[in-house]
Parts: sequence; structure tokens; C-alpha cells
Amino acid sequence: MSKKITIAIDGHSSTGKSTVAKQLAKELGYIYVDSGAMYRAVTLYAMRKLFVSDTNFDKESIIRHLPFINVKFIFDDELGYGEIYLNDENVEKEIRLLEVSQQVSKVAAIPQVRKKLVKLQQEMGKDKGVVMDGRDIGTVVFPDADLKLFMTASTERRAQRRYKELKERGDEITLDEVLTNVKERDHMDTTRDDSPLLKADDAIEIDNSLLDLEEQYEKVLKLAKDKIEADS
Ligand code: CDP
Ligand code: CDP
Repeated sequence: MSKKITIAIDGHSSTGKSTVAKQLAKELGYIYVDSGAMYRAVTLYAMRKLFVSDTNFDKESIIRHLPFINVKFIFDDELGYGEIYLNDENVEKEIRLLEVSQQVSKVAAIPQVRKKLVKLQQEMGKDKGVVMDGRDIGTVVFPDADLKLFMTASTERRAQRRYKELKERGDEITLDEVLTNVKERDHMDTTRDDSPLLKADDAIEIDNSLLDLEEQYEKVLKLAKDKIEADS
């Protein structure tokens, strides 16, 4: 039997991390964990209960509420992966709204928030056989991951992809709003003090500006299979 490995996929927003990670987990029979969804769920709580917005951000009150924020994934057989629940409510759709994307990087910069979520992520991946995507998976959550990938692509290409996705969902947004958000999050995520987004020394970088999803997936699947074979 082949050995189960841990696969960490980090990178910038809208580089296809979660799409590829889901496909890969399904193919390998691994668990998929969308760590970004966890930060988004905490942010949604902060927006609803503490009225966090562009003009209102009270870090201390978010920290005080952390014990009351329960975030978990519930596996869906049909989908083949878990959907995110915030205090027992499925928030999978709501957390993807641009309004949440506009607040999430501030919430994700709070060390106490990261500490709580990193602990849950490490727990979910403790038996290996996991594909996790995010910003700090290969650097902080699983520094010993067997395979680390770092995805990137041009800012414009990423914004166009995300815009198309949100439009198809029926969201009322403009390309300019999405581009601004992608740039702002890139900046905040790479410059924060705690666990900034950076490529781990041993991560394989994939620039997918010119790759479609299928080409990108083939590349990643080959890397994963080669690694599993080498380790078995
Ligand atoms: O899908 P997209 O790349 O737009 O974002 P995401 O993966 O859902 O992550 C949303 C935000 O959560 C990021 O912009 C980061 O601020 C934060 N995040 C993080 O700090 N660490 C992670 N491991 C994952 C996400
Ligand atoms: O998880 P992350 O934010 O990195 O990206 P995603 O949610 O998997 O992908 C964002 C959007 O870009 C989705 O609509 C993907 O289908 C699209 N995409 C693409 O068209 N071509 C790629 N090579 C990668 C992503």
C-alpha cells in the first residue's frame, strides 16, 4: 500500500489552489481542508456580531469572542469534501462574498485568531493523507509537509478569474472592485507580522498565468504521484 503524505498548497488569491486541491484530494482519497474558509468564517462572525467593516475594527472584541466561534467542516458525500460550518450553520456560500473578502485579511492578521485555527488545522492533518491550501500551510501549519506547492499568477489574470467566478454566481460586483481586493489582500497577507504569505524554501513554485485548470492539475497530480511513489 502506498504511504499517505501531507500536501501543502500555498499561494496568492485566485491561483486555483482550492480547485486543484479538491481534485487532488478526490483522486488520492485524501481529506481536503480549505484553511481560507476558516479565516473567512471567523470574519463572517465578526461582521455579523461585532459589525466589523471598513470603518469599524475592534481587534480586542474579536479576541474576546474567539471562544464562542466554532468552525468546522462537515463532509458531504456527494461533493466529496467538507463544507464549512460556523456555529452549526453552513456558511460555505456566504463566506465567498466580496464583502467578506474585503475584511478577511485584517482578521487573519490577528495572532490569536491564527493560533486557534492553526491548532484545528494541525489536528485535521495529524494522520497525513491531507491536502490543505492556504497562505502558511508549508511554512507554519505543516513545515514538514511531504510536498509543498506555491501557486502564483499575474494579478490581472487572477482578478479576471475571480470576477468571472463571482459574476457566474450572480454577485453584483465590478472587475475593478475585485482587482482592488486582490491587490489589497496580497499586500496585507504578505506584509503582516504573524505568518506572512511567503514561499517555503522547499516549495515548488507554479506560475499558472498561462495554464488552464486542466494543465495545472496534470502538473500537480504528477508531482504528487511521483512523491508518493518515491516515499513508498
Ligand atoms: O480563495 P482566496 O485565495 O481568495 O482566499 P482564501 O484562501 O479563501 O483566503 C482568504 C484570506 O484568508 C486570505 O486572503 C488570507 O488573509 C487569509 N488566510 C490566511 O491568512 N492563512 C491561510 N492559511 C488561509 C487564508
Ligand atoms: O483557491 P484559490 O483562490 O487559489 O483559487 P480557486 O478558487 O481555485 O480559483 C479561482 C478561479 O480561477 C476559479 O474560478 C478557477 O476555475 C479559475 N482558474 C482558472 O480558470 N485557471 C487556472 N489555472 C486556475 C484557476
